[in-house]
Parts: sequence; structure tokens; C-alpha cells
Amino acid sequence: MMTMSCLRLHFLSVKLLCFAFASSILMIDALVVGLSTCHPDQIQALMQFKNEFDSRGCNHSEYFNGVRCNNTTGAVTKLQLPSGCLNGILKANSSLFGLHQLRSLDLSHNNFTSSSLPSGFGNLNKLKVLSLSSNGFTGQVPSSFSNLSMLTDLNISQNELIGSFPHVWNLTKLSVLDLSHNHFTGTIPSSLLSMPFLSYLELSENHFTGSFEVPNSTSSSRLETLYLGHNHFDGQILEAVSKFITLKDLDLSYLNISYPIDLNLFSSLESLLSVDLSGNSISAASLRSYSYFPLNMERLVLSGCDIGQFPNFLKTLHNLELIDISHNKIKGKVPKWFWTLPHLLVVRVADNSLNGFEGSLAEVLVNSSVQILSLASNNFKGPFPDPPRFINLLNARNNSFTGNIPLSTCNRSSFKLLILSYNNFTGPIPQCLSNFRIVKLRKNNLEGSIPDMFYVGASIQTLDIGYNQLAGQLPRSLVNCSRLQFLSVDNNIIKDTFPFWLKVLPNLQVLTLSSNKFYGPMSPYDQGPLGIPELRILDISHNNFGGSLPASYFMNWEALSLKMNEDGSLYMVYNKEAYKNVYYIYEDVIDLQNKGLFMEQVKVLTLYGAIDFSGNRFEGNIPESIGLLKALISLNLSNNAFTGQIPLSLENLTDLESLDLSRNKLSGTIPNGLGSLSFLAYINVSQNQLKGDIPQGTQIIGQAKSSFDGNAGLCGLPLEQSCFEYSVPAMQPKQEDKEEEEEEDEVLNWKAVAIGFVPGVLFGLAIVKLIASYKPEWLAKIIGPEKRKHR
Ligand SMILES: *[C@@H]1O[C@H](CO)[C@@H](O)[C@H](O)[C@H]1NC(C)=O
Ligand SMILES: *[C@@H]1O[C@H](CO)[C@@H](O)[C@H](O)[C@H]1NC(C)=O
Ligand SMILES: *[C@@H]1O[C@H](CO)[C@@H](O)[C@H](O)[C@H]1NC(C)=O
Ligand SMILES: *[C@@H]1O[C@H](CO)[C@@H](O)[C@H](O)[C@H]1NC(C)=O
Ligand SMILES: *[C@@H]1O[C@H](CO)[C@@H](O)[C@H](O)[C@H]1NC(C)=O
Ligand SMILES: *[C@@H]1O[C@H](CO)[C@@H](O)[C@H](O)[C@H]1NC(C)=O
Ligand SMILES: *[C@@H]1O[C@H](CO)[C@@H](O)[C@H](O)[C@H]1NC(C)=O
Ligand SMILES: *[C@@H]1O[C@H](CO)[C@@H](O)[C@H](O)[C@H]1NC(C)=O
Ligand SMILES: *[C@@H]1O[C@H](CO)[C@@H](O)[C@H](O)[C@H]1NC(C)=O
Ligand SMILES: *[C@@H]1O[C@H](CO)[C@@H](O)[C@H](O)[C@H]1NC(C)=O
Ligand SMILES: *[C@@H]1O[C@H](CO)[C@@H](O)[C@H](O)[C@H]1NC(C)=O
Ligand SMILES: *[C@@H]1O[C@H](CO)[C@@H](O)[C@H](O)[C@H]1NC(C)=O
Repeated sequence: MMTMSCLRLHFLSVKLLCFAFASSILMIDALVVGLSTCHPDQIQALMQFKNEFDSRGCNHSEYFNGVRCNNTTGAVTKLQLPSGCLNGILKANSSLFGLHQLRSLDLSHNNFTSSSLPSGFGNLNKLKVLSLSSNGFTGQVPSSFSNLSMLTDLNISQNELIGSFPHVWNLTKLSVLDLSHNHFTGTIPSSLLSMPFLSYLELSENHFTGSFEVPNSTSSSRLETLYLGHNHFDGQILEAVSKFITLKDLDLSYLNISYPIDLNLFSSLESLLSVDLSGNSISAASLRSYSYFPLNMERLVLSGCDIGQFPNFLKTLHNLELIDISHNKIKGKVPKWFWTLPHLLVVRVADNSLNGFEGSLAEVLVNSSVQILSLASNNFKGPFPDPPRFINLLNARNNSFTGNIPLSTCNRSSFKLLILSYNNFTGPIPQCLSNFRIVKLRKNNLEGSIPDMFYVGASIQTLDIGYNQLAGQLPRSLVNCSRLQFLSVDNNIIKDTFPFWLKVLPNLQVLTLSSNKFYGPMSPYDQGPLGIPELRILDISHNNFGGSLPASYFMNWEALSLKMNEDGSLYMVYNKEAYKNVYYIYEDVIDLQNKGLFMEQVKVLTLYGAIDFSGNRFEGNIPESIGLLKALISLNLSNNAFTGQIPLSLENLTDLESLDLSRNKLSGTIPNGLGSLSFLAYINVSQNQLKGDIPQGTQIIGQAKSSFDGNAGLCGLPLEQSCFEYSVPAMQPKQEDKEEEEEEDEVLNWKAVAIGFVPGVLFGLAIVKLIASYKPEWLAKIIGPEKRKHR
């Protein structure tokens, strides 16, 4: 009632206040520009629409930011929801379908997971623009979509839609159609390609098959953009595509065509600017002659095309800005002419067998216009040429470059990402590290000390100089690098105390100092917590740190104390660079010792919490506060001199996957709580002074025996030493029971074999639990003394 009477007042603010009552949402925020022309019943319909969903993720003022109404009729003509606003099923009777005057509707990036597309969309037949992408819609596209005869733009990409090609080909005004990233099957209707205004067609990442008939009159086609990649079309589609002479941008990557593509097919496409043929093999014959592509081509991606020699036809493509010939089998030297193409910006020749540059090192690259250059994973040898004058990103990882890092590296003001890891560079580290965002020089033979020249406001975020011959101390000027997230100096010969002074860096997430000559206490001067708030990975293994750690040591580590969200949304920040329409993803990688295996190059993509203090000289108790680091995945304290009990609080580390406490002087029993850590894939407590029974949980009994070796007093699975044997004297069966007992032994033995346990392990608790349902009385006999033993 209240709502209705308020609605009749045409005084905007009062009206909105009344809605505040009606929907218990503070609507004052909604006084945004577009809304003032909207009719009250339209606002009510919009509110109703929102209330059909869980809109807790929605910013209520933003909800109305994307609303526009016709200023004479007051009808909603445009609705653009903010991303992540609505959650739930879009119902057939949704009030959305009453907004008949909509011209433009954008619901993309919301969550209508497992809704099918209601046929009610067919009612919105004034729509010109409709975007439903990235919403989790399932099922088929209803035939009512063919009612939307005014549509010019339709985007239903990134859903879970199925069925054959949607019935859109009589939407004669359609200009942009994006069906990519769905599960559509079948062939492309040929009538689609005679649509008079269609200029953008994206069908990538579906299961389309076959080819299509090309209408004889393609001369009237306006198709400029055609993305067909990642489908199962057959080879004939190439011929069909080659008839769309207006094409500018073409993606035919990963079509799984069984024979090599002849580039001659593209010679008729005179407007082409951009082609991606990755993942298809290209005929060697067609690589030998000169250009098939129009001379004004700007982007060419031929990654993973079985190319065996440097493609000479590139010579004539003077407008080329981007060339990607990575993941091929190209041998020999990069020709000198290549670097003289006048507009080159992005060059990727990674993952080939290239071994050098034609031309003099001082000149070959320096005058090139290249800004982003990846030479990674080839066989390049010898000294590195002077880098291009405007270089921004250089990745030469995993080659055999030798000699010094060129001095000129430091006078390229645009240089931001320098990746020279896994080579054989020698000499000093450049003095200008502060200028870069990312520097990776891991696994070379660099020597000297790390230049102490970091200035206030330095850009550096990632510095990885592990596995070199660097000596001296950590430079104290690192405190100026407030953007630093990732610092790895492992496997050098740095001699220093622990850098407590790095605590001032607000973004430091990864610190690895392992295998150096660090020494001294790891507990700060006040004996309190270490507490580097954002740190997620701390690896100080194999140094000479020592002393004891106070019980509160692991307090105040915010990043590690937060448990990962269910959906894993707390991801490790990593660096992503996007250039124009080019991808370049850079990921921080780190060597980690986890689950007892040495893993090199683990991508630190997801939130990964790890502490490694192994191979030092720590003594005293393991701090109980370790249990506060709830996001910890891997904990390694092995090879020290820790004493006392294993902290009970470890049971609170429910995400823990790897726990190594081996080679210490720990005593007492293994806390029962460890048996319930359901992700624990690796545990090692060998070579301590532990006793009592091993807690039985599925994760623990699957471990190798060696994980518990060297503790004279441990018993139970997976050790052969059964806890029952310890207590045999306590339950010596009476003579008359003996025969029955032996019979039961056989039953047990047989079951043990049948379920895959080592025969001979008879009385381990796990088996006892397994047979509990069959023989309760008998079980009581075994468990009885067991319990007594531990009281
Ligand atoms: C909601 O959006 C408005 C405008 O974009 C912004 O000023 C406000 O901070 C946002 N509120 C929340 C809680 O995100
Ligand atoms: C508003 O609606 C009227 C009546 O339907 C129409 O004539 C007019 O063109 C519309 N104005 C705009 C800006 O769309
Ligand atoms: C209605 O909108 C049109 C176009 O947006 C504008 O030219 C016109 O002045 C507006 N009329 C009123 C009454 O606000
Ligand atoms: C829409 O249909 C659902 C059942 O599918 C019903 O619960 C709901 O009340 C209906 N809503 C409207 C506005 O009619
Ligand atoms: C989307 O909704 C489904 C079902 O309500 C839910 O399980 C899922 O977590 C939601 N996803 C996001 C990203 O909110
Ligand atoms: C098509 O639009 C008309 C209104 O122009 C409507 O009456 C009809 O129900 C719509 N058809 C479908 C299948 O939605
Ligand atoms: C499109 O096709 C459907 C069904 O095939 C038909 O109902 C509709 O009237 C057609 N629309 C136009 C604009 O031709
Ligand atoms: C369709 O929507 C997706 C997701 O919002 C977007 O990435 C894509 O560029 C859109 N397609 C077109 C053709 O605009
Ligand atoms: C194209 O024209 C040829 C004759 O010129 C004819 O045989 C063929 O059927 C036509 N194809 C289509 C799809 O119209
Ligand atoms: C690729 O083609 C081969 C035969 O040429 C076929 O066996 C294979 O299943 C296809 N792969 C996909 C992903 O379609
Ligand atoms: C690096 O260079 C040294 C000599 O300078 C050589 O002994 C060593 O084998 C090289 N290492 C690699 C991985 O090429
Ligand atoms: C585990 O965490 C809970 C809640 O944070 C706490 O109350 C409990 O004492 C912890 N358990 C141990 C053994 O520290």
C-alpha cells in the first residue's frame, strides 16, 4: 500500500525515499544522472528485477549507474549491469522481460549459473545491443531470439551453451556476433555468411565442424573480423574463408586440419592486417617463396606451425608490428634484415633452435624498433648484442649466452622487464636494477656483490638473482623498494645476518635466502614475533641461522593467517603484461622444496604459503604460534636441533600439504590432530626421538615407512612395528583361547592382503578399524590394552 501511494507522487526524492521503505534499500544513492528521466513504474520494475536475485555482491548505487530512460516516455531504454551484481536463476517470468522498450541490454559478467536462456528475450524486440556473455548460462539458445530483428550486436560468449548454431541468420541488421567459448556443435549455416551487415564474427573455442558453402556474391560481404580458432573445422574451410576479401582480422588457430596449410590461399585477402594460424602445420613449400600476405600486414602469428626455417617472406612485410614464430623448429641465425623491418614492436621467436644473430653485436639490434622481444628457449650462444634502443621487455631465458650483461642495458630508459635467467652470463650485476619492474637473472655465473644503489621510489617488484656467485651483503638500500614483492637471492655466497630491516616493505610476499652464508639469530632483537605482514613464502634453508624462536614467533603474519577462500580467490599477485592485442604473461616462478621433491619452476600463481627453515641450527621448541598460519601449505623445519614436542597447534593448519620435521631432536608423541589433516600428502618426522603410536588417518598410513624411521619409540602403520606387539605381554591370551585366536589371525591376514596392505602387518589400527564392523567383540580385545598403554 505504502509503495503504491508513494508511487503516485511525482516528486523524485520523495519517490525514492518511498522505495527505500519498500525495498529496505537506501535508495538516496540512486539519484544518478540517467535515472531522473525514468518513469516510477520502470524504476519499480528494475528494483523487482534486482530482488529476484541474490544481489549482495552488488553496489546499489552502481546498479542504477547503467540505466537510461527515454526522456519523453520515461521507459527504460538502456540497462547495463555492473559485473558481479546478480547471482541466481534468471526465471522465465522475470520482470526484465517487461522492459519492452529496451534498446541496449548488457548483463555480462554476472552469475546466472545453470539458468537456461528464457524465451522471454524474444519479447525485447526493440533491442539493438544484447550482451549476455560470461554468465554461466546453459542449454540451447531459444528460437525466440530470431524475433530480435533490430539487433546489431549480439554477444553470448563465455557461457555453457550447447546445441547447433543459434537461429540468428534472419536478424538482418546483425553486425557483431560473438558465440565464442561455448559448447556449440554442428556446422555454420551458409546463410549466415550472406548477412548483409555482418562485419564481426567470433566463433572460437566451440565444437563446430565441417566447412561452409560460400555464397557466390561475397563481393557484397562486409566481414572484416573472423575468429574461428579452436574448433574442429575441416580443411576446406580455408578455401571458403579465402573468398571473404574484405577480411582484416583472421584467426584460424588450432583447427586440427590434417594436412599442411598452403599460404597461397591467403593471397586474395588484400585487406588483411592480422592473421593467426597457430597450431596448424604450414606447408614447407609455401614458406619458401615470397609473400602471400598483403604488404600492409601488421600482425602475424605462426606459433606451433612446424616451421623449419626462418620465413623469408617476412622480408616484404614492411608494416609488420607483431610477429610470433615461437614453438617451431627454426634453426640457424636470425637474419640481419629481420631487425630492419621499420615498424616491429613485438617479436616472439621463443622455443626454436636459433643459435645466433647475423651481423655485428654492437649494431644488429640496437637500431631495431622492437620493444618486446622474446628469444627464450633457443640455442643462442656467445655475448648478448646491445639491446634495442626502445626495448621495454626482453626475455632471453634458457639459452647459452655468455659474457657480461651489456652495459648499454642501463641506458635504455624504457627498459622495464629484464629476463636473462638460465644462461651463462658472467661479470657483475647491472647497477641500474632500480629502474626495472622485473629482473630475473637466475642461474648464471654473475659475481661481485649486489649493487647497493636502490633509490627511493624504485620501480622494482621482482628481483630474482638466485644461483649465481654473488657475495657480500644484501644491499641495505633495498628498504627503498616499497613496491618489492618478490626477492630471491638463493644459492649464492652472500654472508649477512637476517634482513629484519625488510619488514618495512609493505608488499613483500616472497623472500628466499636459502643456500647462502647467512648467520645469526632469526628472532628479532626484542625476542618477539617476526611478523612480516604480507609474506607468504619464506625460505631461509641451508644457512647458518641459529638460536631459538619464542612461542609467539609466528604472530602477526596477516597474509599467512588468512585462510584461502573456498573458491581460492586469494591469489598470489603476479604480474601480467598486456600490450595492444598481444598477450604476454609473465609469471613469478620459484624453486620450492615441497612434498620431499625438489621442484624447479613451480608457478607461484595460486596463493602458496610456505616456510622453509631446514638445514640451519635452530634449537629450542617449535613455536606454538605456527598454528596461526592457517594458509600454510608447506612447512619444512627439518635438519635443525629443535627439541620438545611437536606443537599441538599444527592440527589447525588444515591446508597443509607437506610437513617435514625430520632430523631434529623432537620428543614425545605425534599429535593425534595430524591424522585429520586431509590435504597432508607428505609428512616426514624421521630421525627424531618420537614415541607412541602414529595417528591413523588416510593421509598418514599412505606415507612411506621411511617418513617415520629413526624414532625408536614409534609404532603403528605404516611402520611394521605394531603398537599391539609392544603390549603383547598385557594381553597374553589364556591357553584355551589360543586355537580360536589363530583362526582369527587367518581371517585378518586374508583381509589385510585383500585390501592391499603388506601381509605380516596384522595388528595395525587401520586394519582394526576396517574390520570393526565385522568383529566388534574381537576388536575390543585389541583396543583394550592399546588404550591402557597410552594412559
Ligand atoms: C559504489 O559505487 C560508487 C560509485 O561507483 C563508489 O563511489 C562507492 O565507493 C562504491 N561502494 C562500494 C561499497 O563499493
Ligand atoms: C523517446 O520515445 C519517443 C516516443 O516513443 C520517441 O519518439 C523518441 O525518439 C524517443 N527518444 C529517444 C532519445 O530515444
Ligand atoms: C531528451 O534527450 C535528447 C537527446 O538525448 C535531448 O536532445 C533533449 O533535449 C532531451 N529533452 C528533454 C526534455 O530533456
Ligand atoms: C515467477 O515464477 C515463480 C515460479 O517459477 C514464482 O515463484 C514467482 O512468484 C513468479 N514471479 C512472478 C513475478 O510472477
Ligand atoms: C555462481 O552461482 C553458483 C550457484 O548459485 C555458485 O555456486 C557459485 O559459487 C557462484 N559463482 C560466483 C563466482 O559467484
Ligand atoms: C515476438 O515479438 C512480438 C512482439 O513484436 C511478440 O508478440 C511475440 O510474442 C514475440 N515472439 C516470441 C517468440 O517471443
Ligand atoms: C525469423 O525467423 C523466424 C522463424 O524462422 C520468424 O518467426 C521471424 O518472423 C523471422 N524474422 C524476420 C525478421 O524475418
Ligand atoms: C563479448 O563479451 C566478452 C566478455 O565481456 C568480451 O570479452 C568480448 O570482447 C565481447 N565481444 C565483442 C565482440 O565485443
Ligand atoms: C555459384 O555459382 C555457380 C555457377 O556460377 C553455381 O553453379 C553454384 O551453384 C553457385 N553457388 C551458390 C552457393 O549459389
Ligand atoms: C584431430 O584430428 C585427428 C585426425 O586428423 C583426430 O584423430 C583427433 O581426434 C582430432 N582432435 C580433435 C581435438 O578434434
Ligand atoms: C658456462 O661457462 C663455463 C665456462 O665459462 C663452462 O664451463 C660451463 O660449462 C658453462 N655452463 C653452461 C650451462 O653452459
Ligand atoms: C586451533 O584454533 C582454535 C581457533 O583459532 C583455537 O581455539 C585452538 O586453541 C587451536 N588449537 C590449538 C591446539 O592450538
